[in-house]
Parts: sequence; C-alpha cells; structure tokens
Amino acid sequence: EKGGYDYFMLKEIAEQPRAVADTLLGRIGADGRLSLDEMRISDQALREVDKVVIVACGTANHAGLIAKYAIEHWAGLPCEVELAHEFRYRDPILSRNTLVIAISQSGETMDTLMAVRHAREQHAKVLGVCNVNGSTLPRECDGVLYTHAGPEIAVASTKAFLTQLVAVYLIALYLAQVRGTKWGDEVFAMIQLLAQMPDKVEKVLETMGPVRDLARSLADAPSVLFLGRHVGFPVALEGALKLKELAYMHAEGFAAGELKHGPIALIEEGLPVIVVVPPRARAVLHDKIVSNIQEIRARGARTIVIAEEGDDAVRPYADTLIEVPAVPTLLQPLVTTVPLQVFACELATAKGHDVDQPRNLAKSVTVE
Ligand code: F6R
Repeated sequence: EKGGYDYFMLKEIAEQPRAVADTLLGRIGADGRLSLDEMRISDQALREVDKVVIVACGTANHAGLIAKYAIEHWAGLPCEVELAHEFRYRDPILSRNTLVIAISQSGETMDTLMAVRHAREQHAKVLGVCNVNGSTLPRECDGVLYTHAGPEIAVASTKAFLTQLVAVYLIALYLAQVRGTKWGDEVFAMIQLLAQMPDKVEKVLETMGPVRDLARSLADAPSVLFLGRHVGFPVALEGALKLKELAYMHAEGFAAGELKHGPIALIEEGLPVIVVVPPRARAVLHDKIVSNIQEIRARGARTIVIAEEGDDAVRPYADTLIEVPAVPTLLQPLVTTVPLQVFACELATAKGHDVDQPRNLAKSVTVE
C-alpha cells in the first residue's frame, strides 16, 4: 500500500505531480477559460462579492495566506486570512457580499467547521476547499471545490497542500474571469501556465538528492530558520511547521523584511537559515532578499538558498543552493515548498522518527 516507499509521506510527496494534475483536470476548457460548475455559487453572486475571508488551520492556513496574494492581485478583491479558531471568537465583520473560503483537507477540522457556521449565521457565502468526499465541510458550505489529492495518510500534509494551492489559484483566477479585471491577459496566460505545473513539480522531485544529503547533515542542528518574502513568506512558515512536527526541532519562519525588526538577533555562527528567493523577474523583491541573505551570512548564518534555476545573483551568498524551475512569482510556492517537505521528511527520518505518525498529532483534529 506504500507503493514501495518506506513511509506514506514519501509516497505522497512523490505523488504530487499527479495530484496537481488531477486537481486541474476538467477545469480548464478548450477555449482556455476556467469552468468550476460544481462550485454552485452563481457567477452573479461572485460578481457581488466585495470581500474575501479565508479560514483554515495549520498547513491549510498557509495555503490561505498564499491565496491572499493571488486573490488581491488577479481578482482585485480585499482578502483577509484567519486562523479558524481565532476568527470565531472575535467579532469579524461579514455580510451577504462576503465570500468566506474554508480550506480543510479532511473536511472534519472542528475549528474550521465552527468558523463556517459562524460565517453562515452572518449570511456570508461560504465556499469549501476540501479533499475528502462526503466529509462534513462540503455539507455545511454553499459550494465546494474539491482537491483531488487522493487519500492522504501521513499526518503531515504534503500533496493536500499543493492541491489546496491549485484550488485557490483556480478560485482567484475564476473570480478574475467572471468579474473582469485589468489583468485579463495575465489571467488567461496564468491558466495556461497552471497546466504546466505538474511537470515543474516533477522536475523538482528529480533533483532532491542533494536536499536529502543536506537534511541528514543537519540532524543535530538545534534550530533552523526559514525566511521568505511575498508568497515565499507563507512557504517559509510551512517549511518551519513541517520541521517542527516531523523532526521535533525548533524551527521558525519569518518574513525576510522583518529580520532587522528583531529576528536577526537570533543569527549566530553556523545557524542554518533556509531562504526562499522570489523570481528575478520581480526585481524589487529579489534584490531585497539577496541583501537579506548577505546580512545573515555576514553574521555567520549557514545559508541554504532556494532560488530559480540560473539565478546567479544569489550563488555567491549561498552555502547550499537548491534550484527550482522558473515559474511566475505567484505560482512559485508549488515548486519551492517541495524541497522543504523533502528536507523535513529526510531530517526526521535521520533522527529515527516515524514521519507518518509524529508524536502528539492526529490526522484530523475533530475537537476544538
Ligand atoms: C500539518 C497539518 C495540519 C493540518 C491542519 C488542518 O502538516 O497537516 O496543520 O493542515 O490540522 O487540517 P485540515 O486541512 O484537515 O483541516
């Protein structure tokens, strides 16, 4: 059942190109436009939306954080992202024209379900993003967009996360398509590019040998930091979460711009810092992070840099360089997350941990 792999997690990481392809399947028409008929929220209702609020926990929340960048940019809608358990104990301002998107692999996370109920009481429209057919979440939402990752057995989310990203990109692009935005051409081009993502993810998987070697060499590190900017920031959070839950190691993700506001004080000789670098095409973001890498390296950090292939500007400052295929900035999490999953999985295995069943964790958290 593990398909020749030692752990379900390894199998699920390897399945990601297929999972991404399946989540795209049937959703891009021959005319290059998206059709999300199963969503059951009318185009008219989507045109009336004036705000998007995303609720989710853990890894699914990281998918939500990435969705914010996509929804604001392509659909031109204000978007807030909330931890479901925080959202429902506040007094969030929602209306009939608020679109609440609840993201949950299992569809059974109690905190997320309670947030959905809270949103519906206030007459918001609720769209679920869910991986499990017949689970509770889809029944409680106005509409649902299923991810087609297939059953995810390992406790730590991998392929579900990548398919959640695909789902939220589809939602952002679909909102742009039905509402019409100034980015019409870009939206059309992005839909085409999404179709190439399974191949790009496959390319990343083919080059993971050095990442595994690196992970084993860091098994005794006391702590690992992760830095990113823009959508690389949630990717950094996700990389840190994977390491915490699998390797039981101290790990933290930061927005690179936040360094000088505090975290740079943590940098000391030999501290491994993994940095997710935006594409060179986003020169402003890219150049800023290159200076961040220089700053931490000057203070002794061991820099592990994830950058697009051919990025020669980062090479001189990278103790280890992990190259990923060049893709547009907003889609980059689909390729930059994969090395972080492999890294955490390998490091945890080197420490002798069962990566499928990390201590103290359950696959779905059905209590509040
Ligand atoms: C981390 C992980 C958890 C889940 C979270 C939400 O690897 O798996 O953080 O993402 O518990 O679960 P779902 O998506 O089922 O609502």
